[in-house]
Amino acid sequence: MTQFSSRFGGILFALLVVSVASPVSFAQRRQQQPPPPTGPWMNTSLSADERADLVIKEMTLDEKIAMLHGVGMPTDEPVTPENAASNRGVGYDVGVPRLGIPGIDMSDAAYGVRSSGVNGRYSTALPANVAAAASWDPDAAFEYGALIGRELRAQGFNMSLGGGVNLTRDPRNGRTFEYLGEDPVLAGTLVAKLIEGTQSEHVIGDIKHYALNDQESGRNSVNIHISERAARESDLLAFEIGVTKGHPAAVMCSYNRVNGDFACENKYLLTDVLKKDWQFPGFVLSDWGGTHSTEKASTAGLDNEEPGDFFYSDKFKAAVEAGTISTAELDEHVHRILRAMFAAGMIDYPRQRFVVDPFAGFETARKIEESSIVLLKNEHAALPLAAARLHAIAVIGSHSDVGMISGSGSAQVDPIGGNAILPPGKGATHWLEEMWFPTSPLKAIQARAPKAKVAYDPGTDPAAAAAAAKGADVAIVFAYMWASEGMDLKSLTLPHDQDAVIAAVAAANPRTIVVLETGNPVTMPWVKSPAAILEAWFAGSDGADAVGNVLFGSVNPSGKLPNTFPNSEADLPHPTITMPPPESQHFSGAVSRETWAKGLPPFQVTYDEGAKVGYKWYEAEKKPVLFPFGFGLSYTTLSYSGLKATSGDKISATFTIANTGAREGSEIAEVYAMLPEAAGENYKRLVGFTKVKLDAKQKQAVTVDIDPKYLSIWDERKNAWSLLPGDYTIAVGGSSVDLPLKATLNLK
Ligand code: BGC
Repeated sequence: MTQFSSRFGGILFALLVVSVASPVSFAQRRQQQPPPPTGPWMNTSLSADERADLVIKEMTLDEKIAMLHGVGMPTDEPVTPENAASNRGVGYDVGVPRLGIPGIDMSDAAYGVRSSGVNGRYSTALPANVAAAASWDPDAAFEYGALIGRELRAQGFNMSLGGGVNLTRDPRNGRTFEYLGEDPVLAGTLVAKLIEGTQSEHVIGDIKHYALNDQESGRNSVNIHISERAARESDLLAFEIGVTKGHPAAVMCSYNRVNGDFACENKYLLTDVLKKDWQFPGFVLSDWGGTHSTEKASTAGLDNEEPGDFFYSDKFKAAVEAGTISTAELDEHVHRILRAMFAAGMIDYPRQRFVVDPFAGFETARKIEESSIVLLKNEHAALPLAAARLHAIAVIGSHSDVGMISGSGSAQVDPIGGNAILPPGKGATHWLEEMWFPTSPLKAIQARAPKAKVAYDPGTDPAAAAAAAKGADVAIVFAYMWASEGMDLKSLTLPHDQDAVIAAVAAANPRTIVVLETGNPVTMPWVKSPAAILEAWFAGSDGADAVGNVLFGSVNPSGKLPNTFPNSEADLPHPTITMPPPESQHFSGAVSRETWAKGLPPFQVTYDEGAKVGYKWYEAEKKPVLFPFGFGLSYTTLSYSGLKATSGDKISATFTIANTGAREGSEIAEVYAMLPEAAGENYKRLVGFTKVKLDAKQKQAVTVDIDPKYLSIWDERKNAWSLLPGDYTIAVGGSSVDLPLKATLNLK
């Protein structure tokens, strides 16, 4: 079964693609590459809109219709005339070969280019997106996106399907690792930079999954109910920032329903908000199999059906011929797609295959990981380790002798040589299976402590692990929780009895360091016992070196949590995830194409927590947490002073950060606001942040500008953002619960 069909619960592939014709030879494939574009639209002094219109003038009806849909999933299919010119990614639109307009060749690219293995290619695995969020570093996010753009181009793709920015409304969501945390300002700011980076390489970038696709369970049928104000101030705000600041050429609408309508035929989301209010000039493509109608979807604002052509080919043409879809509406879809192609530069800078630079990729992946690792606990300065004083080190658990875990699903990047826990070459990637990258913490630790005896224990038996830890100078326990698209976690408990292993090791050796490899928050019943805890996320191609550098102190940790770690599932807005009834469940059993097309019967999930996502919820509900949003320690000490909050041309917060310790370090300064009482919010909001690098004993004055929108409420009556007059409390510090500086800002 292909990955696609397994994702779709057994729907036959052939039903989704245009046609399955006889295979095409390599020579024919080469001939089918379109000639380099010529024509008046190649005049680069014209705007992308003008250029798109010049092409449209020349197009036939069939050529227009052909632009509105994909031709299947070339990765998983034989070569056919329709997909022959594709690069064998997850989606392909044919372009306008007669006019030299290239096809759109899409690859998933959340934390690196997907499906390289099956095509015999290589790509870098960056740390998971949630790790990039933990860096709170817009420059790192740009580099992240740029690396993805470069490697896509080098492999022959010209469109990225990345940019996941759904908020972590439920920390059990299996795709939490693909997203950028629970706060719309942090997530939106970073996704904008990531997209800028990708598009700087002349590749179309998209952001996804628009919108409110915050649980995987029943994602194709669930109807999310949420108030307009709550949506605008939470999930939609992350997209708004991403769209208006990052200028993605495309937005992918999500599978779920929102307030009654599927997201991909939801006029409110696609037209009223995205295209009108945010002035998004690019195109909307459906998530894979997320289109459910022709007229309704078209009028609502869906421009492009992926990956097949069930609704946006013959049915669309018939609707245009019958006049139920106007030519103007058809042209608008085509215009948006062409405009995006010109604006992203993929026509002026045709993709050019070259050998990816794996060394540069490793370095970027390592540096981002180094700025993303979060030091959660460090009693008696247990870290950093001083190699010269260590004679025996016990390394325990999580296959840390050979590798580190990654996040799966359509984000999966293929490890070099295959899955590291299988014999080399035997580890092809499979849907919903754990994949381990060959980056060995054990080797990284031994390399940094060459004189120490470093012993490995697999951490499968608490007693054996404790015995291995007992005589060592330090015990380093690695623990993991794998996650994937297509599933949610049953709980936030580490699997495979790892809690018991950690507890046993920490009881046997007071100098126990826990290194977590997770994309989601986890609970830690043992939190009081180990001397130190690091969150290393899904650490990417060179994760082990990054972890080694932090453990031994050549890198000072500076990441902070982009998601709250709660004490228990009972404290979540929804203590249990609402599961779909059998008829709304698509991951098990076959579903006919017709049933699928109509849309599986809805089941209801109400986000009655509203905009209180993550830390806002815990604060409003007065629930203590395990580790708060924005929290992370450093090997140095920092202090904050002298806050001034001002308004005028700009609203800003100015303050001083001092590194009071003996070594350099970077600090993420966080700026929060409590709105005037009239807003009716009993929680604060993140409204700005900055990451500053400071030498030992260095002091620096910093100014953080605050976008007035981040201080505003969504006024449903006026259908607009509204900045309320009154007193705002501006609070500044190093985490959402450690805000030593406060000032009042009065806005008229
Ligand atoms: C995922 C998208 C992905 C698409 C193509 C869908 O199942 O939700 O994120 O881009 O498949 O693989």
